[in-house]
Amino acid sequence: MRAANGKRLYIQEVSVRDGFQFEPIFISTARKVELINALSRTGLAKIEVTSFTSPIAIPALADAETVMRQIERVAGVEYTALVPNLRGCERALACGVDEVNLVMSASQTHNMANLRMTCEASLLQFAQIVALVAGKVAINVSLSTAFGCPFDGAVPASRVFELVDRCVAMGVGRLTLCDTTGVANPAQVAHLCDAVWTRWPQVVFTAHFHNTRSMGLANALAALDGGIDRFDASLGGLGGCPFAPGASGNVCTEDMVHMFEAMGYDTGVRLNDMLDIARQLPAIVGHEVPGQVMKAGLSSRLYPKPGGLGSGKDQQRLAGQGAAVALDPASTYHGSTP
Ligand code: COA
Ligand code: ZN
Repeated sequence: MRAANGKRLYIQEVSVRDGFQFEPIFISTARKVELINALSRTGLAKIEVTSFTSPIAIPALADAETVMRQIERVAGVEYTALVPNLRGCERALACGVDEVNLVMSASQTHNMANLRMTCEASLLQFAQIVALVAGKVAINVSLSTAFGCPFDGAVPASRVFELVDRCVAMGVGRLTLCDTTGVANPAQVAHLCDAVWTRWPQVVFTAHFHNTRSMGLANALAALDGGIDRFDASLGGLGGCPFAPGASGNVCTEDMVHMFEAMGYDTGVRLNDMLDIARQLPAIVGHEVPGQVMKAGLSSRLYPKPGGLGSGKDQQRLAGQGAAVALDPASTYHGSTP
């Protein structure tokens, strides 16, 4: 693993899109706006606000226009939205997004299940979208199932290269490799990330992992080793594609930030502010969320020492075993868990 040396990493929040699209209840527009406004002030590089998809396909995000128009934009934060087709792009542009995040799958069956079109049809839509956007806003392409598909199985790296190549040829300068159902492993991730980054150094790549099989943070580290410095992540670890069987939450934003910061990277995110917001999530979605640091606290958290450790007997024992520490009686533990 390379030394961190304060290297800057970019964290992109997807909970309000990838997370809320997967929740069984409709999160109110006001709650969404409130959450995005709070997240905007934590130092995130980008927020995926919503998706301009069919409200029949994704009813949870049927309020896309209202959310996009009501949020308070903070300078330095990019506001993006997921777009599946030309119609979605027109809607997103009308709301003044900073970026359209086009989505297609690397595998045919997932593309059909998710978007009801072939991969070739998606690429045709992308070409039309590039013409429509005409450089007015940034374009990112998110390649779902880039590491494997729940229907078609393995996705060879050559398939990902082919799709990256076709998007780049259209003029797309940003691409996200998505592990939609958490099947990627760190060796595969390091290899694929290193390969794309080496082949297309001019492209801004993002890694997007789901923690379905507990490999999410390991995969993020592998992507970092493979040269990636941008990561999608979801507050509390919410998330999942409704059209991918077995899908579950993204890598948790605050857990990822905590790991990178502990290693000496600079994520730009104010972790304590983010944790305060994350702790409100269970009340918003109505269930526990997978995030761990919000429950355990930072790795630097100290607990009062166990009861009795300040006694004279313990002091003698410590002294006898060569420990030259003077225990502070004020810090002794009296049985309550903070
Ligand atoms: N926004 C709103 N409505 C849309 C739309 C969009 N982007 N695209 C199509 N529609 C509407 C059409 O106008 C049409 O409406 P009508 O019946 O009132 O005339 C209807 O949806 C069907 O249009 P069609 O082009 O046949 O779409 P489809 O039924 O084949 O669905 C998608 C295609 C892409 C719109 C749909 O599958 C979708 O939104 N998928 C989203 C998947 C997603 O977000 N997954 C999670 C993220 S990975
Ligand atoms: Zn996802």
